Amino acid sequence: MGKFYVTTPIFYVNDKPHIGHAYTVIAADILARWHRLAGDEVFFLTGTDEHGEKVEKAAADAGKTPKAFTDEVVDKFKTAWKALNISYDKFVRTTDEDHINRIKNFVSKLTDNGDIYKGEYEGWYCVPDETFLTETELVDGKCRVCGREVKKVKEENYFFRLSKYQDALLKLYSDNPGFLSPKYRADEIINIVKGGLRDLSISRATVKWGIPFPGDPQQTIYVWLDALPNYITALGWPEAASFNTFWPADVHIMGKEIFRFHTIYWPAFLLSAGLKPPNKVFAHGWFTVNGQKMSKSLHNVVDPLSLVNKYGADPVRFALIREMEFGRDGDFSEEFLVEKLNGELSADLGNLLSRTLAIAEKFSGEIKGEPEPGGLVDIKEISSHIDKLEIHEALEKIWRYVRSINKYVNDKKPWSVKGPELGNILYNVLESIRISAILLSPFIPETCEKIFGQLGVEAGGLKDAVFKEFKGKVTRGPNLFVKVQ
Ligand code: MSP
Repeated sequence: MGKFYVTTPIFYVNDKPHIGHAYTVIAADILARWHRLAGDEVFFLTGTDEHGEKVEKAAADAGKTPKAFTDEVVDKFKTAWKALNISYDKFVRTTDEDHINRIKNFVSKLTDNGDIYKGEYEGWYCVPDETFLTETELVDGKCRVCGREVKKVKEENYFFRLSKYQDALLKLYSDNPGFLSPKYRADEIINIVKGGLRDLSISRATVKWGIPFPGDPQQTIYVWLDALPNYITALGWPEAASFNTFWPADVHIMGKEIFRFHTIYWPAFLLSAGLKPPNKVFAHGWFTVNGQKMSKSLHNVVDPLSLVNKYGADPVRFALIREMEFGRDGDFSEEFLVEKLNGELSADLGNLLSRTLAIAEKFSGEIKGEPEPGGLVDIKEISSHIDKLEIHEALEKIWRYVRSINKYVNDKKPWSVKGPELGNILYNVLESIRISAILLSPFIPETCEKIFGQLGVEAGGLKDAVFKEFKGKVTRGPNLFVKVQ
C-alpha cells in the first residue's frame, strides 16, 4: 500500500470533448480505480486549460467573452466525464483564482532563481498547438506537428533559460529509465535534447486572455507555463499537505503529441524551481475513426456523450481500451463497439451471470465446495501489467479468465447435475464471477456494481479477489447488457 498520483492533460476548451479526450481520461480512471482497489491512497487529477490564443479566438468566433465561453465548455467536459463514470478527485481549471495565484508564485520562483530574462522573439507560432516554431521546424511552411497554418510573431518576450537544463535533463533520463514511457518513445526526446535546447519564450505581448506576467502586466504568461504546473498547483503547492503526500506524480498520462512538453519543458521548470520531476511521463498513441483522422471538416468527430447515451458508459469504456494497445496508435469505430457489446460483454459476461443465477436461484442446497485449480486467476500477473501501464493486456488477461469460467460451466454442465455436486459447481462459478467482477470494476464499474448486487455480495478490494466462502444471496436481475443490431 502506498500513494498513487495520476494525471491527464488539462484539455483546451475551444470545443466540447471528443472521444480522443475521453480515451485519456478513461485510461487514467482505470489506473486510479485499480490503485484504490489495491488499497493505495489515490489522487486523480484532470481539468481544463483555458487561457491562450486558441481559446481566445474560439470565444470571439462564438461572440462570447472568454469567461462565459469557457464556463459553458467546462460544463460539457464535466457532464461527459460524469456520464463516463470518471472518478477524478479534482478538476482543476487554469482560470481558478487559486491556480492563477500559484502560477504567479511559480513564475516568480523561476525569476528568483535567475532563469528568466527579457528578449526579442522572432519566429513562428502555431495557434492550434500553442507552440513556438523556428523556420527549420516548419514543413512546407506549416506546423510540423499538426500541419496547419502558422503565423509570424515578432515581439518582446520573457525567456526561460531552457538551454541551461540540457545536461540535467539528459541525466534525468539516464538515471530514471522509466521516466520516458513507453520505452519506444524515449529516443526521440533524448535526441532533441542532445541536439541542443534553445531558450523558451514564456510570455506573449499580444495575447490578453492569460495570467498577467508578474511585475509586467503588459505581458501574459505563455499558456504552457500556465498549464504544466497545474499538476502541482492543484495539490496546493507549495504549502499544502497534499503536495507533500502526492508529489512527485507517479504518472502523467497524455497523447503522444504533447509528450515533448511534458518531458522537456516540465521537468526543466521543476528543476529550476527546486522541485522533483514526476516519476513517469507516459504517452499513448492517437486513434483515427474508421481509418480517418478526426476533424471538424470531415464531420467525423465522435462525441463521447452521444455514445454513452446510445450504449451506456461501460461498453464505451470497454471498447476504447479493448481496441488498441495502450501506447500505440489505433482505430475506433462504432461497429467495433457494437461487436464488443454483443460479443464479449453480452455473450461472455452477461450470459455467464444470467445462466448461472437462473440455476442458483432454483437450487435449495448449500453453495459450497472446493476451489478447482483450473479456475484460479493470476492476480500478480494482472497487477504487473497495470504497473507497466499495459492496461489493454491486463484487460485481456481478465477476459481470458471470464472465458475460462464459461468453459468450466460448459464442461461441468450444472443444468444436468444435482445435490452437493451442483453446490460445488455453483460455488466455483459464483466465486469466480465475484472475483472477476472485482478485477473488472476499474474497467466497467457500473456493470460490476450490478454483478455484486445480483450476487448479493459486498464489492471488496483486490485482497478479496481470492476464493472464500460464498456468502451472497443471489437474485437474478435484468440482463447486464442489451444486444444491439
Ligand atoms: N491543453 C493541452 C494540454 C496541457 S497539459 C498541461 C492540450 N489539450 S488538448 O485539448 O488538445 O488535449 C490533448 C489530449 O487529448 C492529447 O494529449 C490526448 O490525450 C487527447 N487526444 C486528442 N485527440 C486524440 C486522438 N485522436 N486520439 C487519442 N487521444 C487524443 O493539448
